[in-house]
Amino acid sequence: MAHRNLVILTGAGVSAESGVPTFRGADGLWEGHRFENVATPQAFARDPALVQRFYNLRRAALSTVQPNAAHHALARLAAEWKGDFLLVTQNVDDLHDRALAEVTPGPGFELIHMHGELLKARCTVSGVVSKWRGDMAADEPSPDHPEGRMRPHIVWFGEMPLSMDRIGRALAKADLFVSIGTSGAVYPAAGFVQEARFAGARTVEINLEPSLGASLFSEGVYGPATETVPAFFETLSRPA
Ligand code: APR
Repeated sequence: MAHRNLVILTGAGVSAESGVPTFRGADGLWEGHRFENVATPQAFARDPALVQRFYNLRRAALSTVQPNAAHHALARLAAEWKGDFLLVTQNVDDLHDRALAEVTPGPGFELIHMHGELLKARCTVSGVVSKWRGDMAADEPSPDHPEGRMRPHIVWFGEMPLSMDRIGRALAKADLFVSIGTSGAVYPAAGFVQEARFAGARTVEINLEPSLGASLFSEGVYGPATETVPAFFETLSRPA
C-alpha cells in the first residue's frame, strides 16, 4: 500500500556514523558531566561559562563532521515524496539541513528541530532567535535587548520542545511513522509512536538495536543507519 502522510523522527543514532556522539552510549559524557547535568536552565544560571563552553565545543565540532548516507537518503526522500512529509529531529546538529540543502524538497516537506539547533542563539529577554556560528561568551550581550544575554537555542531538560502543536497535527493524520536512531528514553518524542498508532499509521523502528519502545512499533529494522535507512526507503513505494 502506498503511503501519503509520512512522519519521520530521528535521534542521535542517525548522526552517530558521522562522528557526532550519542547521549546514552559509552560516549554519552562530556568532561565527566552527564549531558543532563549541563543541558538545564539551572546549570546555565549556576555556571553559564561551563554551559557555554559545552555548547561552544559542540558547535565548533560541527565543522569536522559531514552528513552520512542516512541523512542523504532522507533528503532524497524529501525531494521525491509527493504527499506530506514531516521530518522531526531531536538532534541539534545541522546534518539534516546540509543534506537537504543539496536537493529540492517537495512542497509537502518540512523539517523541525524539536530540541533546537546548535547554530542558533536566543535572546534571554526578547526570545528572538538568530543564527550563530562562533563561540558564545558566558555573558554574551544580546543585539535584541539591552538587558538581554544570548543563550544557546537549545531546549534544555525541563523546557518544552519546539513546534509540538505542529508535530501533533502531523501525527494525527500520519499513515506511516518511522523512528530512526533514538533510544526512546526521552519524552515527548518517545511517545510519538503511540500517537501515530492511534491514528492508524504503520509504525517502523529503525535503530542499531531494539530501543526501549521497540514493542510499540509494528515493525523493526536493526543495523547501522547508513545501511538500514537507504535500504528501507529505497524499497518504500512512493505515493502517486
Ligand atoms: N545507527 C542506528 N542507530 C544507532 C547508531 C547507528 N550507527 N548508533 C547508535 N544508535 C542508536 C542507539 O542504539 C540508541 O538507541 O541511537 C540511539 C541513541 O540514543 P540516545 O543516545 O539516547 O539519543 P537520543 O535518543 O537521540 O536522545 C534523545 O535525549 O539527551 C537528550 O536532548 C537529547 O535529543 C536528545 C534526547
